[in-house]
Amino acid sequence: QAAGIRKGRFKEGMAPEFAAFNASIGFDKRLFEQDVKGSIAHVLMLAAQKIIPAKDARKIEKGLQEILEDYKKGCFVFREDLEDVHINVEETLRAKIGDVAGKLHTARSRNDQVILDLRLFVLETCQVVKNDIVALMSALVAKAEETVDYILPGYTHLQRAQPVRLGHHLMAYYQMMLRDFVRFESSWVWNHEMPLGSAALAGTTFPIDRVLVATMLGFSKVSANSMDAVSDRDFVLEFLFNASVVMMHLSRLSEELILWSGPEFGFCELPDAYCSGSSIMPQKKNPDACELMRGKTGRVYGDLIALLTTMKALPLTYNKDLQEDKEPVFDAADTVQGCLRIMAGLIPGIKFNRNRMLEAASDPSLTATDLADRLAREGVPFREAHERIGALVRAGSEEGKKDSSELPTPEEMVDARDHVGGTSRRSVLEQIRTARLFLEQI
Ligand code: ARG
Repeated sequence: QAAGIRKGRFKEGMAPEFAAFNASIGFDKRLFEQDVKGSIAHVLMLAAQKIIPAKDARKIEKGLQEILEDYKKGCFVFREDLEDVHINVEETLRAKIGDVAGKLHTARSRNDQVILDLRLFVLETCQVVKNDIVALMSALVAKAEETVDYILPGYTHLQRAQPVRLGHHLMAYYQMMLRDFVRFESSWVWNHEMPLGSAALAGTTFPIDRVLVATMLGFSKVSANSMDAVSDRDFVLEFLFNASVVMMHLSRLSEELILWSGPEFGFCELPDAYCSGSSIMPQKKNPDACELMRGKTGRVYGDLIALLTTMKALPLTYNKDLQEDKEPVFDAADTVQGCLRIMAGLIPGIKFNRNRMLEAASDPSLTATDLADRLAREGVPFREAHERIGALVRAGSEEGKKDSSELPTPEEMVDARDHVGGTSRRSVLEQIRTARLFLEQI
């Protein structure tokens, strides 16, 4: 720990193994830019409010700008013995401009600093993730348009149910991604609170201007309660939940692609660029990218559950437990971004096997609903029609006979579902058109 923090109160130094255990610099160095930006806004406010002399503030600001430059050039040296990113910045500033650096920490605590940094990080990450979601949505729409005339069985219980257009199936994933996008967008409200000024927990005795700091940092409001501000991690949990739902969606798509690309389905071939081979079986082409996305979903859920558990029963206000918030966020952010990009890269290269899909969709049992509908339209109560057709299907499968004359074709069946949200060609093209309008104005 920085000597400065221990100088007054402590007689002895930290046990080396405790120093290592206590330190967060190994991971919170990732908040470097956010930390320096926050300090610059804070010191400008201290000067504007005449809490510290303007000339000291200028020295501090200049020093911080230089530190930021050094960092961007890759020549900022992090010291493991300086506990965390906040102390690293402060001590480097002291080495640069002398003891006046100590005035930066007036009216502030690491408790409000760390939450500011994390808020800025999550806000920036949401923006990146939203862009990645949009890229995947575009890839789905393009593939849906390309394959609108491909017809495959739709499944329930993984049993062939009714024929659908492949474009309709792919646009179902577009809808999931659209909800993910909106979910990240609407978390903005909770993220947009500027916590500085809360200091350790109770606020500060200095005449600070919190709105000025919020304006400088681009926040739309300041937090309303200092105790809540330093101990609230709801926005982090919300980010982790949103990331978990994205992963859940990606895992479902991954699972279908894994099934479809195997010979039992044979509905598609995944691009070589996203598959790997076997070290022993020369024939293998394995869907590793999809399997990894499916597998990594568990990790992101773990990140969410880890932080929920950390937060459980935590008394107000800051407790060191809260240092455990950062690694799950970084892990989830990297994982969800990585997976979204892999999926968006993989989709354009999928080759769907139109004939194989049509063959499966031409299974006569898939006409059962439409035949029952036909009877119902002739006045037979639907429940009775259902029973009559069901008995026919059973007799048919027992005798193994396939009388397909007069049965509706897969194409007739999909196009008969011609309403908003249905699988007709017109409906799917309408979904695609609406999606394109959304993507164009994003
Ligand atoms: N490294 C700490 C964290 O990540 C920063 C806040 C430290 N505050 C404190 N009271 N020790 O949470």
